[in-house]
Amino acid sequence: MDPPPLGEVARRAGGGLGRRTVLAGALALSACGPKAQSQPIPADLPPLRSVAPFRVGACVQALHLDDPALAALLVREVSQLTPEWQMKMEYIVQPDGSFRFEAPDRIAAFARAHGMGLLGHNLVWYAQTPEAFQRLDENRIGFADAYRNYIHAVAGRYRGQVVGWDVVNEPVAEDGNGWRDSLWAQRLGAFEHIALAYRTAHEADPDAVLLLNDYNLEYFPKKRATYLNLAERLLASGAPLTGLGAQMHVAADVPPGEITRMIRDLASLGLPIHVSELDVSLTRAENKLLSRAELQRRQTAVYAEAAEAFMALPERQRFAFTLWGLRDRDSWLRAENAADAPAVFDDAGRPKAGAAALVDAFQGRRPQA
Ligand code: G3I
Repeated sequence: MDPPPLGEVARRAGGGLGRRTVLAGALALSACGPKAQSQPIPADLPPLRSVAPFRVGACVQALHLDDPALAALLVREVSQLTPEWQMKMEYIVQPDGSFRFEAPDRIAAFARAHGMGLLGHNLVWYAQTPEAFQRLDENRIGFADAYRNYIHAVAGRYRGQVVGWDVVNEPVAEDGNGWRDSLWAQRLGAFEHIALAYRTAHEADPDAVLLLNDYNLEYFPKKRATYLNLAERLLASGAPLTGLGAQMHVAADVPPGEITRMIRDLASLGLPIHVSELDVSLTRAENKLLSRAELQRRQTAVYAEAAEAFMALPERQRFAFTLWGLRDRDSWLRAENAADAPAVFDDAGRPKAGAAALVDAFQGRRPQA
């Protein structure tokens, strides 16, 4: 049975929304030496999922599944999928407040058919506040019921299919000074909307790992500290936070050692860690004097550092290692700069030095100095 649209739930809550609601009712390690870049990629490089002692993931869109080459590469290389955008409000919540699930259902079915984990991404994000929610009356009770209804409708639908959820995405302010403002914070409270999201997601799917997810945690120690303070406050409040995600959208010239420091800091809370959206941009490098070859060498070293830092975690803290775009051509970064090549497989799906670096690290081998 389809869940009631947002407005219907708010109406039932006596939120006084009634007719006014137009809603019809949703790596300073031993960086790879110069040899690393020039080393040929073994033709028989084993699949990432075959050597990693944890789930290796990739983001995916439903339309990707119509590309036989990419579908085959996903099945060969990864053991977990994250819907890149189609499990978010922007896809699910329709202008009239109803919900649609065709695309995420298709991705979930593909994951199930191929024995892959599914990572729900994401339930609450400051960046997506559909009209259907914005039109809800100021009434707090009605809004809270519509918010809870949405989380129950989505997390409940995929109960038993997802291994976890990015429940709240990017809650920390860019500069690390506090938390972001958002429709959710304004209507339900800066902390309360976050704690409520975790409590509700746990009600909807008690078996899912419930993750906090954010970016630039390796670049900005202050943001990282605020992220960890939020996690600690959630835990102290009894919110069922059970995993920490670091997106890791980095550039090839990210200072060696920063990723390692970040992962170690996140691991200090003892929760499972998700490298949730790793890509290593060549064109976003701050140092514009670096040659393409040097950027590629550094890219390989960054993949090696990320994988080795993750491997250094206790097994119980290795939730998953997810790449945001398996092939260069699938990356969101391509829309920003067609010259970027941030992934570990090239446009043709051939493994790059980054893939070999991941395999080495996952197999516990350090790259040749
Ligand atoms: O495919 C449709 C197309 O049919 C339609 O014509 C077009 C215009 O509406 O939209 C296309 O979908 C776009 C989709 O990317 C595929 O390109 C969506 O509008 C667009 O919003 C979506 O952007 C995604 C973005 O999150 C917002 O959801 C990116 O793919 C995705 O890589 C990006 O991922 C985020 C993580 O969720 C959170 N961390 C940062 C990361 C990068 O921004």
